[in-house]
Amino acid sequence: MHELAVALNAAMEGTVAEAMLSPFGRRMYFPKGIIAQCAQAQRCSGRHNATAGVAMSFGQTMFLRDIYDQFVPGAFSPNEIFNYAPVGGDPRLRELWRASMLAKNPSLQSCRISTPVVTAGLTHAISLASMMFVGPGDRVVIPDLRWDNYDLILSDLCQAEVRTFELFDRDMRFNVDGMRAALAGCGEQARLLLNFPNNPTGYTPSVSEMRRIAEALVGLADQGMQLLVLCDDAYFGLFYEADTCMESPFAYLANAHENLLAVKCDAATKEDMVWGFRLGFLTFGGKGLSEAAVEALGQKTLGAIRGTVSSCDRPGQSLLIRAMERGATYQADHECAREEMERRYRKFREALRRHSDSRALVPYPFNSGYFMSFRCAGNAEALRLRLLDHYQVGTVALSGRTLRVAYCSVECDDIDDLVDVIFTAAEETWK
Ligand SMILES: Cc1ncc(COP(=O)(O)O)c(C=O)c1O
Repeated sequence: MHELAVALNAAMEGTVAEAMLSPFGRRMYFPKGIIAQCAQAQRCSGRHNATAGVAMSFGQTMFLRDIYDQFVPGAFSPNEIFNYAPVGGDPRLRELWRASMLAKNPSLQSCRISTPVVTAGLTHAISLASMMFVGPGDRVVIPDLRWDNYDLILSDLCQAEVRTFELFDRDMRFNVDGMRAALAGCGEQARLLLNFPNNPTGYTPSVSEMRRIAEALVGLADQGMQLLVLCDDAYFGLFYEADTCMESPFAYLANAHENLLAVKCDAATKEDMVWGFRLGFLTFGGKGLSEAAVEALGQKTLGAIRGTVSSCDRPGQSLLIRAMERGATYQADHECAREEMERRYRKFREALRRHSDSRALVPYPFNSGYFMSFRCAGNAEALRLRLLDHYQVGTVALSGRTLRVAYCSVECDDIDDLVDVIFTAAEETWK
């Protein structure tokens, strides 16, 4: 193992983070090679900087005018568009994201959390965290109704054993007992992935449910279990009901117990509506983590980024910094988009009332995010194909009996028709 990795592991010794590293995570370190020497030279080389592999002219990158001229003149320097971003992301963006995270999750104010590292989208953040903390044979617990990419990342990329529990209990609330039992059956260590607002159901727990989730996890940690909780906050902020918990589970867990490491994976992707920019963030929090351990975790994350994508999108980071820092309509546009999503949500709920006696399709609870899902009386794939072939309506079939509807992408005025067509097609499919 590289001596830098050995030193980082030593800095984390005795913490849950060190105990739960995968073999990959244990080996990771950030080399003191080209990147570190470039950074040092940038600070100290007043005369000539002959370090980075970037074509420079008078302190700015060279560029193609056909690209540069597409930006408003004077808006960005060539470096802000064309140069590499630092491996962990632009420090200004990392600080802005951290401040916005604290503003949206006031409970985090009292927690020691790492400065968010910029990733190439949220999928990359989940992949990085999984590669660092999930090794072959490790058990990862996820609710059964889940984003299908988790299986690719955890089962296929990391070779973990994915264990599921039913997302909803008999009262159609978050199944805290099922979650606790699934974790308790994992042995001395367990990994858990939580995603609220949930894809595919559009469910977020209430404050009391979230408290029960946190209490259950702290209870297991108290009994000596080591826990890693990955929080996928892709749809954070899209809450439509007053009793919904509007803070991330990360805010409940980042300072909860020495045996619990919380990891927040979030992104500008949906929160700031920049799907194609590929900008996500990875943040760690844990009660027992010293400053040195947090720093070591950060260095390992940088190593994992350097060894995969090297660094993330530069123009996207510059654009986001500008919007967050001095955007005239940043907050207003956010609220406007959230309100439009809420209008579609309410319209969808209202349309469902007309079909409340249907036995073909029963909606799962939903109160947030972009989606809702139906529990189907028959095969969901058959319904999906009927909707597509007979009605030219696209939906997603999942796990046999679940049909996901992304109402986020359908105009408010079309939602009545969408809902009616889905129920008509369902009656025809399983008559
Ligand atoms: C639950 C969930 N997590 C993560 C992602 C991925 O986000 P990104 O596009 O930033 O990789 C998605 C995207 O659909 C998602 O639904």
